[in-house]
Amino acid sequence: MSETDKTKRAETKRVCVMGWPVEHSRSPLIHNYWIEKYGIENAVYEKRAVKPEEAEETIRNLNDLGYIGANVTVPHKETAYQVLPRRDRMASRIGAVNTIVTTEDGLEGRNTDGYGFIANLKEGAPDWDRSKPAVVLGAGGAARAVIAALWEEGVNEVRLVNRTKLRAEKLAADLSLPVLVIDWENRNAALPGAGLLVNTTSLGMEGNDPLDLDISKLPAEAVVTDIVYSPLITPLLEAARKQGLKTVDGLGMLLHQAVPGFEAWFGVHPEVTDELRRLILKDMGIEEET
Ligand code: ATR
Repeated sequence: MSETDKTKRAETKRVCVMGWPVEHSRSPLIHNYWIEKYGIENAVYEKRAVKPEEAEETIRNLNDLGYIGANVTVPHKETAYQVLPRRDRMASRIGAVNTIVTTEDGLEGRNTDGYGFIANLKEGAPDWDRSKPAVVLGAGGAARAVIAALWEEGVNEVRLVNRTKLRAEKLAADLSLPVLVIDWENRNAALPGAGLLVNTTSLGMEGNDPLDLDISKLPAEAVVTDIVYSPLITPLLEAARKQGLKTVDGLGMLLHQAVPGFEAWFGVHPEVTDELRRLILKDMGIEEET
C-alpha cells in the first residue's frame, strides 16, 4: 500500500453491517442516504458477509480491518455481546449488540433496537397511554429489546405471550423485570384493558401464517403495532384499522434504530424523513403508501 493509500485509508470513516446472510440488509441504503444527504466526506458504509465461524474474530479485529464501527445483524448479535468487553445499558440488559462504535476506551457494543421501537411508536402514536398494560407477542430477540425499552419508557405492566412458554419465562428472568407471562392459548384474554399491543412474532410476515388473534377485546384507545414490515400493513394492522384502532407499522423501527449509530460514527444526528421511508419502500417494491 502506498503512503497516499495508507493516509486515505486512515482518513476514511468505514462502517459495515455484518451478517450471514447479509445481502437482504437495508442498512446500507439507509446510511448511504444519510451520508450523501449530510455530505459526510470519506465515509463508506458497506455490507460484509461474515460466516458464523468468523464472527468472533471479525468483531474483535474490527479496527484492524479498517472499520470505525459496525451494525450487527442475524445471527451475530449475541456473539457481539459476548465478545465485546464494553456495552451500553441496553445491550447489557438485552444480551445482544446491534451497533458497535469505537470509543476512547476501545470498541463498545450498543443496542439501539429498543430506541428504534420507541421512537417509531412516539412518532406514529404520540399520545399512546403508557399507564396501561402493554401486551407483547413473541419472546425472541426483538421482544427483549421491545420490553426493555417499554420499561425504560415507564410502562409498568407487560403481559408477555409466547408459543413456547419457557422461552417467555427465560426472557422475563434474564431481563429481571416483572413481566407477566401468559400462555399462547390464552392470548385473547391478555387484551382487555391494554394500552398497547405489539407483535414481535414472525406471524403475518410475507410467506408466513397470519396471527390468529381476536382483537375485538382491545379497548378503543389501544394502539396496535407490528415489528413485521413486509408486508407494510400486516393482517393484524389491517384488522386493527378496520376496528378503528390507531396503528403503527414496523418500518419506522428499522429507520429509527439506525439513528444512534450514524450519529456516533459520523457526528450528525440524522433525520428519519418521508423521503427515506419512500426510498426503502421502493426497494421493497412498494411505490406508494398504503
Ligand atoms: P426475533 O429474534 O427476530 O424476535 P425469533 O427469535 O425467531 O426472532 O422469534 C420469533 C418469535 O415468533 C418467537 O417468539 C416464536 O415463538 P417460539 O418462541 O415459540 O418459537 C414466534 N413464532 C414463530 N412462529 C410462530 C407460530 N407459528 N406460532 C406462534 N409463534 C410463532
